[in-house]
Amino acid sequence: MSVFDHSASAADVNCLSTPKAQGLGAVQARLVDRIKRAALLRLHRTLRGERLLLRMYLAGEDATERTLLEELLPQSPPWLERQVEQHLADERRHVTLFVEALRRVGDDGTTRLEPDWLSRRKILRWQRLAHRYAAHFEHGLLVPAYATGLCAEQMAERVLSRHCAVIGTEHGLYPLLSRVLADEKAHVRLCENTLRRIVAPHEWAHLELLLKDIRTVESSFGVTGALAMYVAGSVLGGVRGGTR
Ligand SMILES: [Fe+2]
Ligand SMILES: [Fe+2]
Repeated sequence: MSVFDHSASAADVNCLSTPKAQGLGAVQARLVDRIKRAALLRLHRTLRGERLLLRMYLAGEDATERTLLEELLPQSPPWLERQVEQHLADERRHVTLFVEALRRVGDDGTTRLEPDWLSRRKILRWQRLAHRYAAHFEHGLLVPAYATGLCAEQMAERVLSRHCAVIGTEHGLYPLLSRVLADEKAHVRLCENTLRRIVAPHEWAHLELLLKDIRTVESSFGVTGALAMYVAGSVLGGVRGGTR
């Protein structure tokens, strides 16, 4: 396969950024954000709640590491291998950082949370989209893999930015979360740059549609995921001063 290095037009590249939600979508995004902020505050009230948050991050980092190792690395052309290995090293470091943080709050970090039912449904729908769109690109499945990766890294950036803002710089978890956030921001740029390189000019219209579909799947789980997080927060962090 050839290495593209196309200069995509500014209009094409626009579709890589997270679109600003409009109308009902904007209302839903605000609602999800408010529910999640409230859930975070509640979860931080107790040690059990804080452990759950760290285990959720660990599950996410674990899943990213597995995806890179099992899906992205095997289908990467040689010129991309070093970049994927570097990305993999970052995600492995995140796993280690969250395991260490869990140990500090009395959890040995060995019981790994598998992705929950909602996340598994979401991943399954993303995989179906990848196979549906692959034929539109010369680099085949590699493009949907990076498009999904881009949306997942953008989501990680949103989640961690919100979390850092909610807890503030004085909180004990702030150094860890802000360090991981800086890496996830770099991964967003890495996915964007890779897509610019591997998507041919005539393929950008398909990429735009694919990104739209990936984001629709993501937002369709937004409210349900936020409510699940709030319920967990209410159960584990509802009683002020509980087990902390
Ligand atoms: Fe990560
Ligand atoms: Fe990442």
